[in-house]
Amino acid sequence: MRRKMVAGNWKMHGTGASVAELTRSLKAFDFPTNVDVAVFPPSLYIGQVVEALNGTAISVGAQNVARQAEQGPLTGEIAASQLADAGCTLALVGHSERRQVLGESDEELCLKFAAAQQVGLVPVLCVGETLAEREAGNTLGVVARQLNSIVDALGIEVFHKAVVAYEPVWAIGTGLTASPAQAQEVHAAIRAQLAAKNAEVAQNVRLLYGGSVKAANAAELFNMPDIDGGLIGGASLNADDFGAICRAAGN
Ligand code: 13P
Repeated sequence: MRRKMVAGNWKMHGTGASVAELTRSLKAFDFPTNVDVAVFPPSLYIGQVVEALNGTAISVGAQNVARQAEQGPLTGEIAASQLADAGCTLALVGHSERRQVLGESDEELCLKFAAAQQVGLVPVLCVGETLAEREAGNTLGVVARQLNSIVDALGIEVFHKAVVAYEPVWAIGTGLTASPAQAQEVHAAIRAQLAAKNAEVAQNVRLLYGGSVKAANAAELFNMPDIDGGLIGGASLNADDFGAICRAAGN
């Protein structure tokens, strides 16, 4: 039985003061004990969040990780080893905003995925199609390519210690959500693709859905057989909304 996971991606939001306020509220919230809860603050605030959430069961992750695991001359980047040192246990890899806006390629993301795992961070690999790709009937092909770029380069076993988040680009921050059936179709395809290489890995890997998840639509998404939780953007900036989504995952 896969444990549900709900993760909040705060993206480039927050100030020292608002982060303090949000972590105070998260600390006070009564989260379900059968759900793994994580937050991904902007890098600048990781130390603050780790300290504020110390003693809670909430994990802290990074939104990005450098292509190399160890420290070195790479201006503006943060090494996986530094993130681990700061208290992170997870790292997003390949969020669509980084693929689309910052031009990160499958090859680059492979290096980042490997760098995260090299120091024990769990990569959360984000995949998903644009609206044009969906309308052209290419959804499953795009997602398969994104997933395969990791499997082909690093092997199927790396998914023993990784999470995959399916985030259709057209559903991110738009208020449009994939229907539970649309999301389930892609999640099932991802699991089948992994199962073709290793059934046990596929059975155990957690597949999160992301894209305009709210308290109102979370339960029906999380009830689908291959949806193991969510990666939450906007709604994770409010502790009550985020907490309600976590509760939906726990039921
Ligand atoms: P929204 O929940 O704001 O649509 O963002 C989803 C997302 O991109 C999480 O990584």
